[in-house]
Amino acid sequence: LKAKYLGAIAEAADESALEALRVQAVGKKGEISLKMRELGKMTPEERQVAGPALNALKDEINTALTAKKAALADAALDERLRTEWLDVTLPARDRRTGSVHPVSQVWEECTAIFADMGFSVAEGPQIEEDWYNFDALNIPSHHPARAEMDTFYMHREPGDERPPHVLRTHTSPVQIRSMQAQGAPIRVIAPGRVYRSDYDQTHTPMFHQIEGLAIDRDISMANLKWVLEEFFTAYFGTPVKTRFRASHFPFTEPSAEIDIQCSFEGGTVKVGEGEDWLEVLGSGMVHPKVLSAAGVDPAEWQGFAFGMGIDRIAMLKYGIPDLRAFFDSDLRWLRHYGFSA
Ligand code: PHE
Repeated sequence: LKAKYLGAIAEAADESALEALRVQAVGKKGEISLKMRELGKMTPEERQVAGPALNALKDEINTALTAKKAALADAALDERLRTEWLDVTLPARDRRTGSVHPVSQVWEECTAIFADMGFSVAEGPQIEEDWYNFDALNIPSHHPARAEMDTFYMHREPGDERPPHVLRTHTSPVQIRSMQAQGAPIRVIAPGRVYRSDYDQTHTPMFHQIEGLAIDRDISMANLKWVLEEFFTAYFGTPVKTRFRASHFPFTEPSAEIDIQCSFEGGTVKVGEGEDWLEVLGSGMVHPKVLSAAGVDPAEWQGFAFGMGIDRIAMLKYGIPDLRAFFDSDLRWLRHYGFSA
């Protein structure tokens, strides 16, 4: 018995073979355990000889099992050390890291500059109720501005009880939502995606705007001019003059389009120098009807609003010629114009 088991243990190839041997020899129903149970049937004399012999055999087998188990583990480790190794002198593999899209970069830059002037960030839905996108902004149903906007309307099944929705054509509905939520006084900007059915070198069906809104008791166009010149100077890193041109928006009165000073020499636009002007945003004093629609009393409160194209000013600052490339996801373009995080 002893020779049989010690020999088998020495030859066991792995841990599971070893475990099988343990069960077969010293397990509850193992050969040696069964023999020990038979001790009861023996005479005291026989038992005095067989008992200690069996116990010694059991100890010897257990010791052999433990020793073999350790030897197998050692061998396994040796094998791993022999086969799993790294050549730490190999050059590192090139890891492609992403970059920050110019729109995200400029979005952040704008948010930071306006934050310094006390504006907090407001948000609104991109799928917007037409009341917020138009009616509340003094653009009633049959106003020509609705047609001019190239609006994407959401499909409606006959009998749909919900109010009509559009993809917002500008960030101005956030004016209404933030005044409803916060009342006056208020100073917010609202950067976000907007949609119009339009496509050429300077227009894409989705683009980005940043809305500004400041309402208090005595805010005027002079405050608007200061805020914008302060913004452009910080954004372009050089003093930038602005020019106000009389314009018309249904939701502001008076309204102005704002141009910034630049030069067009040599096919490139340089902001903050030269004799030329470039239109960059629409603005004006918030129309009393808009304040009323948002639950703010126009007898007590007044202020300005503006809307600016984020993509537009990104192209200007970073010399990007074609707006459509912003949304092509061409990796070479992203690597060239992107920013490291
Ligand atoms: N919402 C206007 C647009 O998209 C811009 C604007 C915003 C004009 C706020 C005046 C005041 O063209």
